[in-house]
Amino acid sequence: MKKLASLFTLLFLASTAFSGINIIPEPTSIVESIEEIVLQKNIELVFEGSKELGNQALGKNFKAYLTKAGFAIVTKNASSTKIKININPANEIAEEGYELIVNANGIACKVKSAKGAFYALQTIKQLFPMSYQENYKLNHCEISDEPRFGWRGLMLDCSRHFFSVDEVKAYIDLMSEYKFNVFHWHLTDDQGWRIEIKTLPKLTQVGAWRVPRNGTFGSDRTEPKPKEKASYGGFYNQTQIKDIVKYAAERNITIVPEIDIPGHSMAALAAYPELSTKKEPHFVSPGHKFAEWFGDGKFKMNTENTLDPTNEAVYEFIDKVFSEVALLFPGQYIHMGGDECYKGYWEESAAVQAFMKKKKIKDVHALQSYFVGRVQKIINSKGKQMIGWDEISEGGLTKGATVMSWRGMEGGIEAAKKGHKVVMSPTTYAYLDYMQGDKSVENYIYSSLSLQKSYEFDPLPEEVDESLILGGQANLWTEAIPTMQFAFYMTYPRAFAISECLWSAKEGKDWNKFMEKTQVHFNRFNARNLNVCTAVYEPVIRVYKEENKIMCELSNPVSGVEVYYSINNTYPVKFANAYQAAFELPAGKYKLRTQSFINGKAVGRELIIDREELINRIQ
Ligand code: ACM
Repeated sequence: MKKLASLFTLLFLASTAFSGINIIPEPTSIVESIEEIVLQKNIELVFEGSKELGNQALGKNFKAYLTKAGFAIVTKNASSTKIKININPANEIAEEGYELIVNANGIACKVKSAKGAFYALQTIKQLFPMSYQENYKLNHCEISDEPRFGWRGLMLDCSRHFFSVDEVKAYIDLMSEYKFNVFHWHLTDDQGWRIEIKTLPKLTQVGAWRVPRNGTFGSDRTEPKPKEKASYGGFYNQTQIKDIVKYAAERNITIVPEIDIPGHSMAALAAYPELSTKKEPHFVSPGHKFAEWFGDGKFKMNTENTLDPTNEAVYEFIDKVFSEVALLFPGQYIHMGGDECYKGYWEESAAVQAFMKKKKIKDVHALQSYFVGRVQKIINSKGKQMIGWDEISEGGLTKGATVMSWRGMEGGIEAAKKGHKVVMSPTTYAYLDYMQGDKSVENYIYSSLSLQKSYEFDPLPEEVDESLILGGQANLWTEAIPTMQFAFYMTYPRAFAISECLWSAKEGKDWNKFMEKTQVHFNRFNARNLNVCTAVYEPVIRVYKEENKIMCELSNPVSGVEVYYSINNTYPVKFANAYQAAFELPAGKYKLRTQSFINGKAVGRELIIDREELINRIQ
């Protein structure tokens, strides 16, 4: 292909001269020409090579997409556009890679596997319009593509908010379009146990339901009143889980189920309080003030939410859970959580202390390590590999455990240096629950992560053996995300950025080009009525002191964006000042108003912020 591509380049111009190809994540190479074909309404799908793999690749979803978009699938028709897929395990292409040519004969793809064919079809979808348009033209091009990393994950927390089977499928469907291949399913936490375990029925009879509360998670929501009905929640029964696993597999997505232990277990303890150290009655948290946070990752749990690692019944419980989990999920990994385990109740318990003394376990960190080691043995006994959040390394990690590094990259680097496999998922680049725009217009949460910062994610630190870095992942915790449309808003466009960080060659990344493509994908989301966040167009506001003046800087990373503002209570802002440089915020009572424009068209939201609020932000 390389040789062919260079010959091709002589005849063809560089891809940047055209705007028609806007594929996210960026393919390894694109060579595009000014010649065009007209995309016909009639599409003929032809497989060469393995028919079985071909059918597997196509599943039902590409045909369904074509039909929904207004194309007609025909077997032979003089005026059709032909999509030919040569699928042959002997083809010298990466397992998930593909080669795709658009020319006068139509579209021809060459792949090694059903996975490659699936990704070629995702690329074709992005070359096509959202719905059939007469006289729509495709430029001739040659695309050659393969992923940089094998683990390209998104995590969805279905405990803090419960999402229906159809909503979970919609999330999976959309991520597959951006070539993610791991769906990390956070199924249990303090706010709800979401997976049916037949041998432990109370987990879902009790643990899946909590009293309904509005208000801010973890702060002003009240605890359940005596005898109050726990009416908010739900769970996935095993038939539904098998259905979702199959649905994901048809989209080349492996599901990694997470059962978060020994912390984050309040819902499990509501069902089986005897598994805690205090053995007192528990309730499923409605997001009450269950913890106090002291910064720097330190916290105290006001309500006990940890399993007792010294109780044999706990390991019998875990064995039952993972026996069923292992049968439901065919992937090689089971995630055991392990994060944010508060050890205060272990320290207070005389029985736990006596156990530690007897077993010569020196402290509660070593006790967690003992717990993790036993859980790993259980998971391995089911034929699965264990993965956990980076806290599982504290107190020592047993061989064969894989680490998901979330508190920065450091935990992952340390683990890789000790020979452990690692998935990088740091808050710094990959926490999708963080605000992505100005806090005056976002659903407030304690931290921010811009699209541009997400785009800087590189899961592969220089100092580690690259074979140990499986890839990366972005996480969507849903404490403040009650609907699937809002989950899309929080996920996209940052997941566009993450997909490019995980799939595309490092040299192929280019922020300006990425932003041009992102604008096209905003339109595609709008056309499908999918929520997407356009905060990237809005200014980033910085207020600072310079000598005796209070200054305000409005920056924006998008080429072509012009920011207008007023500080004299006049509007609309397009008749006010075009931002050039940081300006003084004089004394007085007024609001800062801003609006961004591209070519005179308003983009993003208007920001309206009281001067007092700006003063509070002085850095
Ligand atoms: C985490 O964010 N607690 C893994």
